[in-house]
Amino acid sequence: MTGTQFSEITSKQDQLKSLYYSIYRQDSSDSFERLLKVMATATQARPAALQMVDQGDPHWYMSNKLVGMMLYTDLFAGNLEQVAAKIPYFKELGITYIHFMPLLKAREGENDGGYAVADYRQIDPRFGSMEQFRLLVDQLRAEGIYVCLDYVVNHTAKDHEWAKRALAGEKDFQNLYLMYDTDETPRHFEATVPEVFPKVAPGNFTYYKQIKKWVFTSFYEFQWDLNYHNPAVFEYMTDVLLYLANTGVQVIRLDAIPFMWKELGTSCRNLPQVHVLLKMFHLIIEMVCPSVVLLGEAIVEPHQIVKYFGNDDEQECQILYNAAHMVNIWNSLATRDARLMAKSVKYGFHIPKSGCWITYARCHDDIGWGLNENIIKALGFDPSAHKQFLISFFKGDHPFSFSRGELYEFNPETLDARNSGSMASLAGLEAAIATKDMYQRELAIKRILLINALLLAEAGLPLIYSGDEIATLNDYTYKDDPKKAHDSRWLHRPFFDWARAENRHILGTAEGQVFSAMQQLIKIRGEHDIFRSDIPSKVIECYEPAVYCFAKYLADESLIILCNFSDDRQLIDTHALHSVGIFGSKTDLITGKTVDFTNDRILLGPYEYVWLEGRS
Ligand code: GLC
Repeated sequence: MTGTQFSEITSKQDQLKSLYYSIYRQDSSDSFERLLKVMATATQARPAALQMVDQGDPHWYMSNKLVGMMLYTDLFAGNLEQVAAKIPYFKELGITYIHFMPLLKAREGENDGGYAVADYRQIDPRFGSMEQFRLLVDQLRAEGIYVCLDYVVNHTAKDHEWAKRALAGEKDFQNLYLMYDTDETPRHFEATVPEVFPKVAPGNFTYYKQIKKWVFTSFYEFQWDLNYHNPAVFEYMTDVLLYLANTGVQVIRLDAIPFMWKELGTSCRNLPQVHVLLKMFHLIIEMVCPSVVLLGEAIVEPHQIVKYFGNDDEQECQILYNAAHMVNIWNSLATRDARLMAKSVKYGFHIPKSGCWITYARCHDDIGWGLNENIIKALGFDPSAHKQFLISFFKGDHPFSFSRGELYEFNPETLDARNSGSMASLAGLEAAIATKDMYQRELAIKRILLINALLLAEAGLPLIYSGDEIATLNDYTYKDDPKKAHDSRWLHRPFFDWARAENRHILGTAEGQVFSAMQQLIKIRGEHDIFRSDIPSKVIECYEPAVYCFAKYLADESLIILCNFSDDRQLIDTHALHSVGIFGSKTDLITGKTVDFTNDRILLGPYEYVWLEGRS
């Protein structure tokens, strides 16, 4: 170790210590020493090959060559061994990052799609073994594919060994969770803590007769919230974090981070202590395995999400989901009006240099309508009426809707709901096929391609939800499975249909149209550094509500992106673009056609998008 490295580590250790003592008692010095020991052991256990990887570019995740896919191992391929056999498929599309949805051993029976973990050190035997996983990660790395693994940090399954010992009455293990002898404290919490699943798992506590205690269960009854007030929890969870990092994964997705710290009288969401915990995780990773990156899952209000990046001096998660952008995309399609999206990006938040958004349109979860209400009001709409419109539009009820979806967590009293559905069904393909309407089918495909063209051009790491690349429709069979029927998120979690995927080679099919277009977009993105995630998108006002326009600049190169969110043609007055320095003729990287900005107007067809390259 060089002198600089040594002094860097000592200063990081000092930072860690001061963060640690800002939430844990000063007299807990033994526990801090134990934490350092955990880190030292993990450093020693880090395989030499990974130590080499640690020497590489710390901002590797900003690369324009990175395009991700998230998938459920069992639904996609059966098991880990079979995933390995699908490497040619990833390469064909251009995927260079795979997020494996929960792989660690989940509880038997209902397990919230694997988010109820019974053992953090074992791969669920349904998928394979830890040894097979390590081999797969190595194999994927050799092919230039990075791996992201889920780490459920807020709760364990009630079947985890710690919970079982707590249930057996062991005090030390009961202290790892938040449990109370009477319902007095739970009642006080309930007064201020919102419910996550009000319909399927109401309330935040569950009473266990066996131990006569009320346990904090923010999600399902079988998911017990960990007690981070207890330094032992932080130590154990750090130990697991480093164990997972040493398997060779490059990204660790920390699940449900806003919930990690609870205080009476608060909403128990996004509390300052959560940020301390994440800053500590970040420093620990930097000291032990610096090439590993933290992806935070914080699907909360946009101004809260952005805080999980930390700042330039004290970082937290390098990658976060851009949930606000995701809902803005769906809003633009339903309203044929991209102004909310444009204004949200334009007046969006500053993010630290190391921060990177995941840009996505669909994932395994529902769509919760966390829109920027101030902008909606400024545009002249009533936020709650607008939300009701979106809920009904994406369920397919609204008379103008092209969508097919279902409600998630519908509240009959407030009429509030979220929406479930696959990208293709929400974009209109299912309805078009059902009504045999060829024109609507074409529009639906154009919408799917528009979404992808936007995601692949925006600043951020694009993440494709497995199946969307072959226009997978909703799967209603979950209703026949009693373990899934109550949770409409299973509507968009079907088995990957490999027979349908074969159609990707046949151009006239929906699979072929979507797959080949995405393949081309991914290839172009990888060839131009201007698509790097750290090059910001600059929104350009083009005075056509349906058109979203933004630019990117790198040295003397420029890229102008135009996306028409309407099924009508749009004529854009070029004078608005001249005023921000866009002149001359530019070439569309996708079609090769030339667009001449010296003309007074530019025409965009229904849902047309262009990626215009030129010199600035
Ligand atoms: C995250 C997951 C979601 C799960 C929840 C509880 O939000 O994305 O699917 O239900 O955590 O673990």
